[in-house]
Amino acid sequence: MPLALWRFLRVYRKRPGTIDPYQSTVRQACYAMLCLHQPIWETEMVSRRTLIMSGLSVAALGTAGYGLWPRLGAYTDQAMRQRQLLSADPGMMDVVRLATLAANGHNTQPWRFGVDGETLRIFPDMSRRTAVVDPDDHHLYVSLGCAAENAVLSAAAQGRGADLTIQSGPETSVTIGLRPGPERASTLYRAIPQRQSTRSIYDAEPISAQDMALLTAAAREEGVAVLFFTEPADCEAILDLVIAGNSAQMDDPAFVEELRAWIRFSPDQALATRDGLFSACSGNPVMPGWIGDLVFGAVFRKDSENDKYRDQIRSSAGIAVFVGDKADPEHWIKVGRSFQRFALQATAMGIRNAHINQPIEVPTLRPQFAQWLGMPDARPDLIVRFGRAPALPMSLRRPVADVVM
Ligand SMILES: Cc1cc2nc3c(=O)[nH]c(=O)nc-3n(C[C@H](O)[C@H](O)[C@H](O)COP(=O)(O)O)c2cc1C
Repeated sequence: MPLALWRFLRVYRKRPGTIDPYQSTVRQACYAMLCLHQPIWETEMVSRRTLIMSGLSVAALGTAGYGLWPRLGAYTDQAMRQRQLLSADPGMMDVVRLATLAANGHNTQPWRFGVDGETLRIFPDMSRRTAVVDPDDHHLYVSLGCAAENAVLSAAAQGRGADLTIQSGPETSVTIGLRPGPERASTLYRAIPQRQSTRSIYDAEPISAQDMALLTAAAREEGVAVLFFTEPADCEAILDLVIAGNSAQMDDPAFVEELRAWIRFSPDQALATRDGLFSACSGNPVMPGWIGDLVFGAVFRKDSENDKYRDQIRSSAGIAVFVGDKADPEHWIKVGRSFQRFALQATAMGIRNAHINQPIEVPTLRPQFAQWLGMPDARPDLIVRFGRAPALPMSLRRPVADVVM
């Protein structure tokens, strides 16, 4: 990176004023790329690293030059508008908005909501399934459970009790019947707008026994077992499986392509779709989408991703594993409710979390992981690391009107 930047500055010094922040993105980034790469190609052997770093420099220049920062402001405004608690005159649409702030795989937001008087129904949106990483729709139904839990907590804050039932069928759905109840704006409810998946390095400090007890209590759900691992030897054993799983996924072009399709490199891309994985939310650089597409293959590499997971897991206070009693959509929804409450309780205590699901996503590793857990007949559902760290930018959600039928 320093070499590439130095070369850029050398060219820029010779032709001052040629990089103009008000030029069009395309012209400017093409020019920056030419400035960078031409002298490198002509004068020396180019290492892969130099090329990657040059690409990143171009991305950084494009970002700064085209003024992505003001757009980041628009992004943050939108995220803040969405992440409010109930409005002064709350109704069912507020409950739906808060439900959509739930965790969900790849931020595909795979749900549709039906509102009929005092009944809220949550259906899967099969057009938003991720067939490669989630061929049996496990993550999709867990995501529905996360949204259902937010809905129940938000209804309680409005003074409505909730009777939740799960309808099994070809497309399993959730029905939440609301009735008058005591108004209860719980700690978990208040944490809904602040909860996020924080994919960064944590501070490596342990969590107190008192806080662990609160996390355990919050995650309690009939039909779901939650196991906590805080001993370094256990975390290293899970790390080995995460690395094996990540390596298998990175070697699978279909997995990489599906993931890439859900990545939003620029605030404009994220604002246009209001779904997917915005780079900044994973602590990655922001850049115009077309540059992101260009450099993705060069920077998203197996070794660097594995190193990242090593650092992230070793900096975490512990790992929680969620295991449903049965492997069916009904239990996956229960797992989602349990995980969402765990994540909200953690958020309320300033504890972050992030998924490291590779050992349960790669079918050949799942039985091995179940064996290691001492539950050979179970299908482990979620693996989540936790610990303390600063927040990253919040992810966006689609408008309520787009998800209500
Ligand atoms: C079932 C499920 C599986 C997930 N799997 C992963 C994962 O493997 N890796 C990851 O980084 N995040 C994972 N996530 C987190 C989502 O990507 C995240 O919830 C989504 O992008 C929305 O962002 P937010 O949680 O910050 O609101 C998962 C979430 C759910 C509910």
